[in-house]
Amino acid sequence: MDLHLIPGAAPTDLERAAVDGALGPPDSGWDGGERRPKLDGHIAHGGRDARARRHLLLPALHALQGRAGWISPGALNYICQRLTVPPAEAYGVATFYSMFSIEPRPATVVHVCDDIACRIKGAKELGAEMEKSLGPAGSQAHRGNAPGKSGSAHGKTGGAMWLKSPCLGLCEHAPAVMFQVAGGKPAASGPRAGDATGDWTLAPARTADVLAGITGRRALGRPRGASTPQTRTGAGGADRASAGAAPLRLLRRVGRVDPESLDDYRAHGGYAALRRALALGPEGVIREVTDSKLMGRGGAAFPTGRKWDAVAKQPAHPHYLVCNADESEPGTFKDRVLMEEDPFALVEAMTIAGYAADCARGYIYIRGEYPLALARLANAIEAARTRGLLGDDILGSGFRFDIEIRRGAGAYICGEETALFNSIEGLRGEPRNKPPFPVQVGLFGKPTLINNVETLVNVLDIVVEGGPAFAAIGTAQSSGTKLFCVSGCVAAPGVYEAPFGATLADIVKLAGGVGAGRTLRAVLLGGAAGSFVTPDEMDVPLTFEGTRAIGASLGSGVIMVFDDTVDLQDTVLRIAAFFRDESCGQCVPCRVGTERQEEVLHRLADAAAARDGRRVPAAATEVALLDEIGQAMRDASICGLGQTAAGAAQSAIKKLGLFGGGR
Ligand SMILES: Cc1cc2nc3c(=O)[nH]c(=O)nc-3n(C[C@H](O)[C@H](O)[C@H](O)COP(=O)(O)O)c2cc1C
Ligand code: SF4
Ligand code: FES
Repeated sequence: MDLHLIPGAAPTDLERAAVDGALGPPDSGWDGGERRPKLDGHIAHGGRDARARRHLLLPALHALQGRAGWISPGALNYICQRLTVPPAEAYGVATFYSMFSIEPRPATVVHVCDDIACRIKGAKELGAEMEKSLGPAGSQAHRGNAPGKSGSAHGKTGGAMWLKSPCLGLCEHAPAVMFQVAGGKPAASGPRAGDATGDWTLAPARTADVLAGITGRRALGRPRGASTPQTRTGAGGADRASAGAAPLRLLRRVGRVDPESLDDYRAHGGYAALRRALALGPEGVIREVTDSKLMGRGGAAFPTGRKWDAVAKQPAHPHYLVCNADESEPGTFKDRVLMEEDPFALVEAMTIAGYAADCARGYIYIRGEYPLALARLANAIEAARTRGLLGDDILGSGFRFDIEIRRGAGAYICGEETALFNSIEGLRGEPRNKPPFPVQVGLFGKPTLINNVETLVNVLDIVVEGGPAFAAIGTAQSSGTKLFCVSGCVAAPGVYEAPFGATLADIVKLAGGVGAGRTLRAVLLGGAAGSFVTPDEMDVPLTFEGTRAIGASLGSGVIMVFDDTVDLQDTVLRIAAFFRDESCGQCVPCRVGTERQEEVLHRLADAAAARDGRRVPAAATEVALLDEIGQAMRDASICGLGQTAAGAAQSAIKKLGLFGGGR
């Protein structure tokens, strides 16, 4: 392969050490090491060996970004030599993700969420304060401090810069920020990757705290109030639950178990499910999962048992398991709460899934903005391995399985399953055409079982109690309980668990309802890819079939509540900007359609403002154009991003009468 390295660009010692920390030292002159004329002149390494290591590109880029604070041409050259990747391709990958920079950056970059939940909780004001202290978003005016020395160079702001960010998955504590801090110890690759990151989050974020965080005056580490899930339920003095509500299942250990202790997890019933699974055998486990009628919780609601069975029966080997922990849908934070507060549950559930579908290895692909969940999962995997719950002979059963973590780097599209595979493989995170489906041709071209975090954690109770017992909870077509991410204008935002069939009104009530003296204006159901529902639709049962009946969808379980104080046009414009930003650009209907959609919405907003909120005569033409764009995106986009990008805006116009449109 002709590498065409960037002429004259060499890595610094620090950059070389960062890459070697992730990849291990080079073997020979062929992969970036010292050239040993005698040996390397006779034996050529490369080709297949090098291609087999391409999946280390993302960890190597993370290591560089985390250590040096940016990806310089010299460092990129070195990665390309080490992995035999053409620089044009590595550049294409490095520039795909928002957490990587190919320009020098200060050691501390503050990502300030300006997405929909945070905008109604002071994100714009926080952004204005950041601008006063650090200059405009993305400005390098304060650049200059060496990585690892935040607080040293520029007085009170420490040479940091700030950027506007899409949803950080902390909406229940809005407004949220994430500190991306370069300079720590050398990054490790694989499961211990969580140890290496100096990144941290803060929510709710007040200006004084953010500035203190930049100058290092606030201890780095666990943010305040990492999660506020519903932690108790049932009759008699429940926290925020109505009397007589069903017992918690997925959340029952949250807030009660020490997320860093395997012993405590076991004391709370942990690993009973794996023992039961090993007794049932792979086919028995799949039978229980099929009988449970569990449907995927990642948004597409595919029957889980069917997927497991299909992968288990594939003749090609190895099989892979992937846990989709990308959770980047604005308004979604349930998987984060599970991973932060009950990480061993996910590790155990993945072990069962790997056993049932005969998978050789499991990967957790976790979004880059979840540093605490990353660290806790890394700890859980390590502890499980040490105690023989992962590895070559799990619980003496002869079953061999291990889990690796892959950290995303800021790209919503990487939650789409095939984009996620490409991302792990060291390619740009662009979705693949389907078919072939992942069960046949998935990660590394092999049969792959991919499930969402919440889907997998459900399997623990299914295995212990049996599929039929699980199927008896909820409704005939939507079995079990569901986690709902309630945010926006409610008294107690957080993750709430309820059996399928609870109504939207029930869940909003569980979260304390809208504030005193305020009226409910709308609810965004299913996130940016979902749609708005009106106050007269609050009795909709929250099931796959119930929401479908009103033309909505549960999606990832987002319930974002808006009262009469919220500028909903601003919310819809932000959603449109989100899709325009996050489109991977691979197919025309989505790449161009998301741009045009945003333009039309801005024209409609300007016209409506000029008319002082009265109906706009020209709106009909613009709305018709919007419909046409939406139809083209739905019909002709490769993946679900383009197919759902028009839903929220169209429901806002048609159901809420926004932008001078009308019912
Ligand atoms: C644009 C887009 C983003 C997605 N993001 C996620 C995500 O963050 N987490 C997730 O579990 N599924 C996500 N999905 C759905 C996955 O493609 C896939 O259906 C899911 O991981 C399958 O798991 P399940 O059967 O357990 O739901 C996304 C889909 C699309 C089209
Ligand atoms: S629909 Fe959008 S995000 Fe999906 S492949 Fe096409 S351009 Fe990429
Ligand atoms: S964290 Fe800001 S909208 Fe979700």
